[in-house]
Amino acid sequence: MFAGMDLSVILTYRCQSRCSMCQVWQHPSVPAEEIGPATLAKLPNGFRTITLTGGEPTLREDLPELAAVLRPKTRRLVVMTNGLLAEPLAELVARWPDIAIRVSVDGHGAKNDTIRGEENGYARKMATVRHLLAAGARDVGLAVTIQDDNCDQLLALFKMAQSFGGDISLATLHNGFLFHKIDNEPYNRLRTARAIQPLITELLATRRPRFWRQAYFALGLMKKILGQPRGWRCPAGRDFLYLDPWGRLYACPIRPDLEMGDLNIGTWRSLLKSPGAAEARTRALRCTHNCWLTDHARPALRNHRWPRLPSWRAWRWLVANKVRVTLGHPPPFERDVPFHDMAQGFIAPRRESWLGRPYTPVEQVKTERPYGAFNNVMNK
Ligand SMILES: C[S@@+](CC[C@H](N)C(=O)[O-])C[C@H]1O[C@@H](n2cnc3c(N)ncnc32)[C@H](O)[C@@H]1O
Repeated sequence: MFAGMDLSVILTYRCQSRCSMCQVWQHPSVPAEEIGPATLAKLPNGFRTITLTGGEPTLREDLPELAAVLRPKTRRLVVMTNGLLAEPLAELVARWPDIAIRVSVDGHGAKNDTIRGEENGYARKMATVRHLLAAGARDVGLAVTIQDDNCDQLLALFKMAQSFGGDISLATLHNGFLFHKIDNEPYNRLRTARAIQPLITELLATRRPRFWRQAYFALGLMKKILGQPRGWRCPAGRDFLYLDPWGRLYACPIRPDLEMGDLNIGTWRSLLKSPGAAEARTRALRCTHNCWLTDHARPALRNHRWPRLPSWRAWRWLVANKVRVTLGHPPPFERDVPFHDMAQGFIAPRRESWLGRPYTPVEQVKTERPYGAFNNVMNK
């Protein structure tokens, strides 16, 4: 039942970054309550990918112990990190050089530090990348959350990743319980979406098939930013799952009402077969949030009716545009993306920088059921 699934484990809600588009750092979890190795040991083997995320995973002092439990359970273990602490990552890499490390960078220099509220963050991240590569890491990459404030730097960030042979993982703004945010909205959809075009062309111009697939995913990001429908039903709860820091299982990181059960109680198998899990999967199929998360990258390339088969539409786009770019022409974006079809949305409040601004975070505990505020009318 779980074979071939992706699982993200939100190890903590503690974080030293103070991102403007994610406010998890205002609601840290309590270390004593955070999911531990005994609960994670209940997970079966055979996951396609397990991603350790947060909050900031490197703040978990038992990170190597958690990784030791999870590494045998998956083909690929990924750590999403702000990269501010190099040592915990270097320790992981020394033991498992094949671990994928994705360092979140949201701009060059001061731009990153402003968006992510990180003191000297860009320089520290780049030092971490160099340190990990020197320590023998085989899969280090950058992760960028595309938004109005950094959309003019996408090519530069991609070149930076290429300069050390790294991958680039792309996302754009979402609202949901993982980010403890409900008011992220592009200020200028058209400008932000258009800014992705040169990156797509550049991704297709490379020799790496992984970057070509990213190009197709980035085309979906353009449509997401414009507010256009994804056009296929969400596989959350089937294709990917999320565990929160208290061990509760969710179909996705967005809707807290898609809770499937508690891994602390019962077995993994009973959890996935529970009525709560079935209901969450059904609700996900009907969801109108229209997310375009990194979890959707793989299903985007699969046939939506017969997921074992590739998507003819996606692969035709990829092959045709790889050829076009090789011949020196950019993809025909005017044909592929209906730019006139743009969502109105609401007037977005400015995402102010938290860099250097005083703030006292308030801890959240499991019994509070703290996600209520991150439900919204679209969940019905
Ligand atoms: C929530 S962070 C947690 C892991 C780690 N602290 C980090 O900085 O990568 C995981 C990724 O989500 C991205 N992110 C933050 N806020 C987001 C939002 N509102 N929508 C989509 N992605 C977001 C971050 O930039 C980062 O790449």
